[in-house]
Amino acid sequence: MGGEAADRAEPSDAQRESLVPSTPEPKYTVPGMTQRDGGDVIRLLTMRLHALNDLALTLKHIHWNVVGPHFIAVHEMLDPQVDSVRDMTDTTAERISTLGGSPPGTPGELVAQRTWEDYAIGRAESIEHLGALDLVYTGVIEDHREAVRATDVSDPVTQDMLLEQLRSLELFQWFVRAHLESAGGALSTASASSERDAAHKATEQARKQP
Ligand SMILES: [Fe+2]
Repeated sequence: MGGEAADRAEPSDAQRESLVPSTPEPKYTVPGMTQRDGGDVIRLLTMRLHALNDLALTLKHIHWNVVGPHFIAVHEMLDPQVDSVRDMTDTTAERISTLGGSPPGTPGELVAQRTWEDYAIGRAESIEHLGALDLVYTGVIEDHREAVRATDVSDPVTQDMLLEQLRSLELFQWFVRAHLESAGGALSTASASSERDAAHKATEQARKQP
């Protein structure tokens, strides 16, 4: 679930085409916004909706597949995150509708339009899942921040919603990272290149702890 945080206020036409599914411009949008801006925000929010739906499912997948001595701590930590992220999907979908768009809510559309692979870890120890989940959160948060930048001028109302979501997403990532941090403050997943690599690095560092 990676994203590149490009520093830009206005996406180019090529970026518009490559970053978002081709959704027709809305027949109407909220007062004070052009239909073109409304369409751009709808397309941007469509990908945020897919990312959040994917994250909510991934969190439940981990909740069900985590094993080992720290099972209950991770199992129980994740349900409030699932509830919060599900609330975010609802708010995001309803913002798309408010802007005159049609939020895609089916699994088929999510899989067809997403730009990332399925979560890579099945049944595994808690530290492996936490390492991989750190990377999942990084991808969602980077792309949310990019969406914040992209809506800075066109739609401060959407931007406000995204900022509120980011506050919780970053807090949840800290809950995960607190398990991956050494006493010296180093993050075991800092140089990880994939979810499997992050799971491996997190396990290695945990083994070295006294
Ligand atoms: Fe449960």
